[in-house]
Amino acid sequence: MSKQVWDAVDTLVGRLVLGDDPGMTKALQRNTDEGLPAIDVSPAQGKLLHLLVKITGAKRILEVGTLGAYSTIWLARALPEGGKVVTLELEQHHADVARKNIADAGLAEKVEVIVGPAVESLKRLQGDKAGPFDFVFIDADKPNNVNYLTAALTLSRPGTVIVLDNVIRNGDVADETSADPNVQGAQAALKFIGSHPRLDGTAIQTVGAKGYDGFAIAIVRSQ
Ligand code: SAH
Ligand code: DHB
Ligand code: MG
Repeated sequence: MSKQVWDAVDTLVGRLVLGDDPGMTKALQRNTDEGLPAIDVSPAQGKLLHLLVKITGAKRILEVGTLGAYSTIWLARALPEGGKVVTLELEQHHADVARKNIADAGLAEKVEVIVGPAVESLKRLQGDKAGPFDFVFIDADKPNNVNYLTAALTLSRPGTVIVLDNVIRNGDVADETSADPNVQGAQAALKFIGSHPRLDGTAIQTVGAKGYDGFAIAIVRSQ
């Protein structure tokens, strides 16, 4: 089974299930024009995040790793009246592009982009008692995965859902001798989720337009 087939299937799912989405197409075009890397979630993955927000009834969402806000817009579109996404991004240019995409999507009132190293921003959110969040999407620098999961827990309540992107890494996650810091970040995240007393989780392999990768998903336990 090849990448060509995975692409064809994602194209089919896009056509049959997701449909045309001019707003999202426009955001992705701006990201390209502005030189952002094309490492956003795929349309089908974005729709999964959107559905998870609806399924959980989340009203307050925390995202780590904004890029051009493609995933942010999928998340924010699922919010009920009065809902909010707080999204954290290191790069000023990414945040500037993200804010334009968010405004064009009519979501400026619902989304706050915080610029800076996410570990610092998360500390500030904790200090400001910004939690609890109902839903957390972690998709930034992978070596910090465990730091982000740890911070997410302090900003959570029992029942908070945490989704973490890129934990399979073309299958390299199974190579326990890997020296790749991104692979090690994925391994550390899976170990953390599997061993933390307050987390109940799994990891799912995915193929598609973004290649072979996967998500971890966890729920914060009552105790
Ligand atoms: N969630 C986005 C993709 C995020 S790509 C989407 O699916 O559309 C990862 C992003 O994390 C990049 O924009 C990168 O600049 C940002 N990032 C990397 N290191 C970071 C850090 N230390 N703190 C916050 N953001 C960081
Ligand atoms: C990379 C980062 C991502 O979040 C992703 O989904 C795919 C690739 C990367 O840094 O290469
Ligand atoms: Mg990702």
